[in-house]
Amino acid sequence: MSIVEEIQRLKEERHAVLLAHNYQRPEVQDIADFVGDSLYLSKRALESDREVILFAGVRFMAETAKILNPTRTVLLPDLKAGCSLSDAITADQLRAWKQEHPGAVVVAYVNTSAEVKAESDYCCTSSNAERVVRSIPEDREILFLPDMFLGDYVRRKTGRKMHLWVGDCHVHTRMRPGDLADARAAHPGAPIVAHPECGCASEALSQVDRVLSTDGMIRFAEETRAPEVLVATEIGILHRMQRINPTTRFTPIDAKTVCPFMKEIDLVDIRDSLRDLRHVIDVAPEVATRARRALERMVAA
Ligand code: 13P
Ligand code: SF4
Repeated sequence: MSIVEEIQRLKEERHAVLLAHNYQRPEVQDIADFVGDSLYLSKRALESDREVILFAGVRFMAETAKILNPTRTVLLPDLKAGCSLSDAITADQLRAWKQEHPGAVVVAYVNTSAEVKAESDYCCTSSNAERVVRSIPEDREILFLPDMFLGDYVRRKTGRKMHLWVGDCHVHTRMRPGDLADARAAHPGAPIVAHPECGCASEALSQVDRVLSTDGMIRFAEETRAPEVLVATEIGILHRMQRINPTTRFTPIDAKTVCPFMKEIDLVDIRDSLRDLRHVIDVAPEVATRARRALERMVAA
């Protein structure tokens, strides 16, 4: 029996659903029930009636699934699948920041720990950050965390006064406006799509044709008729873009834009995770209850 067949058999035995993020390895995306961005996968986790949710992604995503689904077993096949952005702020740091701005509304990107979410009023993802911020009354002071590039982008788009936490994703931050200019010169006429976590996305907005979440890029790939598109995000997304639209060439702005955390999980980890029910992700109930409020607002936005 091949490892893919073993996984399919175990998935049915465990009554499990397999969710995979757009940055996962191609072979992991290919066996998943659902592949998508953070918002899409949070919604699939919320709607699932399966007893086990196996998350092929990173830890904060599995925690989010657990918070939204407290009665189900959530598995993360490899505990090394963390996120440098979510490590950029702790709950203690957020509590201290809130003390400096009493009464401010806290908007946390979903790339945060459960403890940080529990201290936040709203969560958002890259696909709904602008909508979430616009839904907050104009007169309220906003603290946005932890990604300064996404925060800066949303601040420019909404014109809202927002205090930004100085955090970034070590993978996306490397991409600078100069990289976009070089890519434009080398591929004249090719549109550029960029993830808002990129170090270039907010500073070089005028050079970017579309700033999009990973699922936004998938929709762009479905619709575009351009012969070539330049892509500024983690290169795992290219697998799905190219499969959806084989006639357009999807070229990374930088082929070294690889998130090591997103590549931790492979088929063997998934097989073992389903077989041995590991690693079970739990969130302390009092933390989960407070974090759920912010996450439910994110899913509803
Ligand atoms: P998306 O919500 O766009 O999938 O982004 C998640 C992420 O971790 C990007 O680095
Ligand atoms: Fe976190 Fe960056 Fe990896 Fe996304 S790409 S999971 S933000 S480290």
